[in-house]
Amino acid sequence: MKIQIITLFPEMFEGVLNNSMLWKAKDRSKVAYEFVNLRDFGRGPRKQVDDTPYGGGDGMLLMVEPMAAAIGQAKGNDPGARVLLPTPRGRTYKQSDAKRLAAAGAAGDGLIIVCPRYEGYDERVTKWVDESFSIGNYVLTGGELPAMIIIDSVVRLLPGVLGGEKSAEIESFQRDDENIEFPQYTRPEKFQNMNVPEVLLSGNHAEIEAWRQANSERPDSGSFSD
Ligand code: 6GU
Repeated sequence: MKIQIITLFPEMFEGVLNNSMLWKAKDRSKVAYEFVNLRDFGRGPRKQVDDTPYGGGDGMLLMVEPMAAAIGQAKGNDPGARVLLPTPRGRTYKQSDAKRLAAAGAAGDGLIIVCPRYEGYDERVTKWVDESFSIGNYVLTGGELPAMIIIDSVVRLLPGVLGGEKSAEIESFQRDDENIEFPQYTRPEKFQNMNVPEVLLSGNHAEIEAWRQANSERPDSGSFSD
């Protein structure tokens, strides 16, 4: 799967894409990450990419021309790619989106992720955008962190990236777009008077399965039974 990232800050991605599963996925040729530096498409000798908003208001907006040109170059590299725009104006990104994008990616469809900065972007760029996503109800300084979150959630679902059986197990506990995971424990059995639930030491796979089902809740919703 080819993932192209249009950004003014490619170095922000280095630690994230060069470690752990996202790096392994690249090492195993399941994914290729490529950067398009928006600055290269800026106007004039100072390579300007932003300007003040019509109608007034604080801050600067990314201009449509550099964004459209950068998307054009990325599309030239990968004509079938879907163009994503992380923005607080988008609909909320969900696990079902990650699954859909990973399935398309495994079938050969790449992604182009355009990362806005400053106070936003000229709305006309959306002519070249297939999907706009928000990652939650708070405001961030740019699209880079949301892009990394989207990449992480998609790449881990590509065939051959995660170990397999364990991830499949967790998937089977998913209802709709609610991510539900059961609590887990590893050695030691007892730590500061806290014991691992007995059933997990029983070796009874049916009972363990039932306990995990019964304790599959969102971590912030409380109420685990033992
Ligand atoms: Cl995708 N971008 C920005 N700048 N802020 C956000 C967001 C995206 N999602 C939630 N907050």
